[in-house]
Amino acid sequence: MAHPRVDAIVEQARAAVAAAQSSSELEAVRVGVLGRQGSLTQLLRSLGSLAPEERPLVGAAANEAKRALEGLLDARLAAASEAERQADRSRRRLDLTLPGRRPPKGSFHPLTRVHDEIVAIFAGLGFSVAEGPEIETDYHNFEALNIPRDHPARDMQDTFYLSESTLLRTHTSPVQIRAMLAQKPPVRIIVPGKVYRRDVVDMTHSPMFHQVEGLAVDHGITMADLKGTLELFAREMFGPRSRIRFRPSFFPFTEPSAEVDVVCFLCHGDGCRLCKEGGWLEILGCGMVHPRVLENVGYDPEELTGWAFGMGIERIAMLKYGIDDLRLFFENDLRFLEQFA
Ligand code: DAH
Repeated sequence: MAHPRVDAIVEQARAAVAAAQSSSELEAVRVGVLGRQGSLTQLLRSLGSLAPEERPLVGAAANEAKRALEGLLDARLAAASEAERQADRSRRRLDLTLPGRRPPKGSFHPLTRVHDEIVAIFAGLGFSVAEGPEIETDYHNFEALNIPRDHPARDMQDTFYLSESTLLRTHTSPVQIRAMLAQKPPVRIIVPGKVYRRDVVDMTHSPMFHQVEGLAVDHGITMADLKGTLELFAREMFGPRSRIRFRPSFFPFTEPSAEVDVVCFLCHGDGCRLCKEGGWLEILGCGMVHPRVLENVGYDPEELTGWAFGMGIERIAMLKYGIDDLRLFFENDLRFLEQFA
């Protein structure tokens, strides 16, 4: 069953199918022949205008051609689509030679590093870590430490009071009292922790900062022990060449009292901007535990002696790393923190 008018359309369609390079080109061929405006569709629609004897012949031929072309196009479209899917998949295949994306790596905060270093140095000397509450009683924070009623630290201006008798501890020294009340001598502790003062934030002040307290009490403990211990600490913390000096000072809970300076790391003692031309940098306060403090915890000052010190972790970190603004520790700017990775 064939008809020249149908044959012409079929031939053209087969040629177009053969020439098509992609599923979209095949689709265009399908629309051009079998679509609503397609050549074969138009022919079928115009059967009525043919001579009556022609109609069945052309009609039968056209319908047969339509089925044949539909079958051909379906098969070719399926094949083309599959080939395109495969090509797409191989284009997107994993490139295992690409360098990997590194996961972001965290690091310890500089204050944590300095804290850990201080603790490690004293742990190596046989000290154990003690802790105490940040909400303290006036008794432990002041009274038992021999800090008199009229001492400026007890002023509302300087201390965060929570009530008449409770406050945010202004130093780690109250843990000296708690430790001695809780145990018999000998005592060898260091006490890292947060402390609070009513200071306005600036380059060197923060209402919360960190201290480490040290305390050693036993029979026959002398100021030479204190000096030796702190000299060793300074060498471990700031390098083997660092020297320290003791300056007479005053604290209510020690007698005698001293402040300790370390030789300036920047100028090694010649005088520079960092040490304000003095050649030395203050790192801590210390002294021999005051007999009245020993009495307050039930230790006999005729039998026992001890020394204590207190230092600021922020201050040590600023000196060690050359940081000139305390606020950097608390802003958590990654550009700052990443320098301590
Ligand atoms: N508690 C003092 C302060 O916060 C520091 C201090 C000085 C602690 C001398 C001590 C010490 O144990 O003996 O300023």
